[in-house]
This record gives sequence, structure tokens and C-alpha cells, in this order.
Amino acid sequence: MTTKNRLYNIVTFGCQMNKADSERMAGILEKMGFQWSEDPNNADLILYNTCTIRDNAEQKVYSYLGRQAKRKHEQPDLTLIVAGCVAQQEGEQLLRRVPELDLVMGPQHANRLEDLLEQVFNGEQVVATEAINIVEDITKPRRESKVTAWVNVIYGCNERCTYCVVPGVRGVEQSRTPAAIKAEMIELGELGYKEVTLLGQNIDAYGRDLPGVTESGRYKHTLTDLLYYVHDVPGIERIRFATSHPRYFTERLIKACKELPKVCEHFHIPFQSGDNEVLKAMARGYTHEKYRGIIEKIREYMPDASISADAIVGFPGETEAQFEKTLKLVEDIGFDQLNTAAYSPRPGTPAALWENQVSEEVKRLRLSSLNHLVSLKAAERTQRYLGRREEVLVEDQNPKETTQVMGRTRGNRLTFFPGNIEELKGKLVQVEITEARAFSLTGKGTVGVL
Ligand code: SAH
Ligand code: SF4
Ligand code: F3S
Repeated sequence: MTTKNRLYNIVTFGCQMNKADSERMAGILEKMGFQWSEDPNNADLILYNTCTIRDNAEQKVYSYLGRQAKRKHEQPDLTLIVAGCVAQQEGEQLLRRVPELDLVMGPQHANRLEDLLEQVFNGEQVVATEAINIVEDITKPRRESKVTAWVNVIYGCNERCTYCVVPGVRGVEQSRTPAAIKAEMIELGELGYKEVTLLGQNIDAYGRDLPGVTESGRYKHTLTDLLYYVHDVPGIERIRFATSHPRYFTERLIKACKELPKVCEHFHIPFQSGDNEVLKAMARGYTHEKYRGIIEKIREYMPDASISADAIVGFPGETEAQFEKTLKLVEDIGFDQLNTAAYSPRPGTPAALWENQVSEEVKRLRLSSLNHLVSLKAAERTQRYLGRREEVLVEDQNPKETTQVMGRTRGNRLTFFPGNIEELKGKLVQVEITEARAFSLTGKGTVGVL
């Protein structure tokens, strides 16, 4: 089957890891001759890159799939693919549920899309979910932004948080080599990219699976070493990383962030709960005291650092008093941003089988009271930006107000200010902040282009 002039569309759910995988798969499809179609209903190939972190994320894909499966009856050469974490979790069962599918492929197989499609075009229905060593991808990703880019540094997760599907669907930790990461960043710099976010589900685990230890007995290739190693890449002005795990977060890393000018003062360190018993049941491997200590350390080195996190309410057995400790932590720390979620029992995870589940009603109430506190605190914390000059990396036009451009501060706060996108895209601009809302800022205009 020829792939020339055939149209494709990718719908991506879930985290940055999935977004990065989608960009690589899009790159592979374009290399094969497919062309992007904005409208999925016009596409000859549709790929759903799925997420199963919570039940509502998983259910979304089934409703999308139902519609396209119907279309396939009228257009039999439509190619339907489910990739990502639902694909890995459900495997062959997905084919039973949606027999119209051509290909079910887990996240570890993203770089193999071309091989897998060849089998599909030979008339097979393919399921690729076995654990493999992830091969380096030589195809250029089709990146959504021309200014900021994601770079995977470690795949998978070896933790065993009792609520979480990620280790089951993403497999064991596999670090890319420092050389491969740097080569990708050099290329991004040459293409005009200004900002890179290094990605891993547990990025502090970077390098543990690579060979070598230092004389003092620590791993040779840690995230901290990686930051020093990639810091001089020409053209790349900002470096971020996510997601950090409190269990492994080190002072050495904090020092590096302070010392290295390109590394932004923004830390995403999920705490999940403010109660030690709950943290223990979650198997997180730290206490709230340790978490608070990390934030204190960060603020000691970088008083203005912005801190974001994730938290779960209604974990099995969570009492009202334990939930209040989460509120207390949020009250005390004052996060710049917090992603909150009600606990959702997931297949194959220990906590889903426990009998002490919290009712949906209680979860809902706790979630809304936590969210209320989060926006109060964020609104409070954002005031510190008022009247200040912030460095903004311009990414795009403001879609709601086309006389404005938008970008992010080093602290990752979305900022709007008047300007012409043609002129400013990809530029670092000093902006004077005139309005501060809970999660975004507005500036008075360009004070000076760097
Ligand atoms: N690796 C990161 C987070 C990965 S998943 C970490 O260790 O923190 C992203 C977020 O989804 C988690 O931080 C958690 O807050 C949330 N999450 C994961 N499993 C969940 C579940 N079963 N129910 C509700 N939220 C969940
Ligand atoms: Fe999930 Fe825990 Fe791994 Fe994060 S560290 S991906 S929450 S198992
Ligand atoms: Fe979802 Fe998979 Fe990411 S479950 S959050 S897409 S790792």
C-alpha cells in the first residue's frame, strides 16, 4: 500500500511523555509519506496516544474510538491505531473490544511505528506490547512548537507507588546516554529552539541503569551531572526538567540549579499527601518533614524559586484528619501551582484491591476544598510578581487577544503582553508585570529584547 498523499491525525492524551512520543511518531509517519490532517474525520490513519492514569482518562479513548470504528465500516482502508498506556494495559483485549483496530502498541514501541505499520499494510492485525529495550530513534520528531522542546532522558519507572499504573505500562527505567541527549539538544539549538525540558517519570532516577560509579561510590551519570554536561549547548537558553521525586531529590541538584544560569528556578515535585501514614501506604518513601526540608533547602538557595506539585485526595483509608494534613502542607508551603486529583483505583495496582476505599462523595468534597485552597494560595503567591521585570520567552500569539503575545517566565508562569508575534517569537523579552492572576500574568509591554 502506498503511503504517499495519505493523511494522518494523532490525538494525544496524558502527560508530557506521551506528547513527546506523539511528536516522534508523527515524525515517523511523515518520513513514510503521510501528511498531517487537522480534521481526524478526513484522515486515512488515526493514532490515539492514550493515558490510563485515572479511570476518566481511560474512558475518553473508548468514546473517540467508537466513532472512528463506525467510520471504518464505510472506509475499510482507514488505519486505526491505539498507542500509549491504555494500549499497554489492555493489549489484546482492546482488539476484542474494538475489532476494527489495526494496531495496538505500547509506549515502548513508539520508535518502531514504521515496522509495525508494514505488518499492518501486509494485512495483519498487530499487538505490540512486549517489554523491549528502547532503541534510539533516528527520525526527526514533528515538534508542535518551534521554540520549546521536550527531550526524553529516562523512560519507565522502577518505583512501586501503590496507586500508580505507570510502572506497569511504561516498564523499567531505561536512561538514554548523555551523548545521545546532548546530540539531540545540539540539533535543537541549531534549529532555533530556545528551551528544552528534560523528561522522565522519575527524573531523579536518571543514570542509575547506566554503567559506572565515581570514586566516592555514587552513580557516575546522575541528573546533576547531566545538567552540567548539556549546559553549554549553543542556542539553548533555558533548561527545565520534570518530574522530580522527593525520595531522591538531592542538595547537589539544588546547588547545580542555582549555579547553572540556564536551568530555570522551577521545580515540579509531587508530594501526593501531607500525612505520613498515607505516604507510607502509598509507598512513597519519604515523610512530609522530608518534603518540607527539600522545599526549605530550595528556598534557601533560590528564595524566589517557583514550586509546583501533584496531590491525591481520598486515597484508601485517608481520614478527615489525614486529609487536613494535606491542606496544612499546602497552606504552609504555598505552591505556585498544584495538580490535584481524586484517587482512582487502577487495574493491576495494590491499592485498588484494598477494602478501605473512600466514597466518591467524600473524594469530591475533599477535592473541591483542596482546589479552593490552592487557588487562594496561588493568587496570594502570584502578587510577588506585580511591578517586577520578568524574563519571558515568547512562544506564540495569545489566541484570545491577537494584539498580545504569550510565553513563560523562568518560573513557568504564563505571561501575556502586547507585541507582534512575527517579531518576537522565540525571543527572550524583559516584561514589566502589571496584572497578576492566580495562574497567569499580564505585562505592560516590551522593556527590552535580550
Ligand atoms: N512520576 C510522577 C507522577 C506520575 S503520574 C511522580 O512520581 O510524582 C502524575 C500524577 O497523577 C501523580 O503525581 C499523581 O498525583 C496522579 N495519579 C497517579 N495515579 C493516580 C491514581 N490512581 N488516582 C489519582 N491520581 C493519580
Ligand atoms: Fe507512578 Fe510513583 Fe513512578 Fe511516579 S514514581 S510514575 S507516581 S510509580
Ligand atoms: Fe498517562 Fe501514561 Fe503519562 S498513564 S500520565 S500517559 S505515563
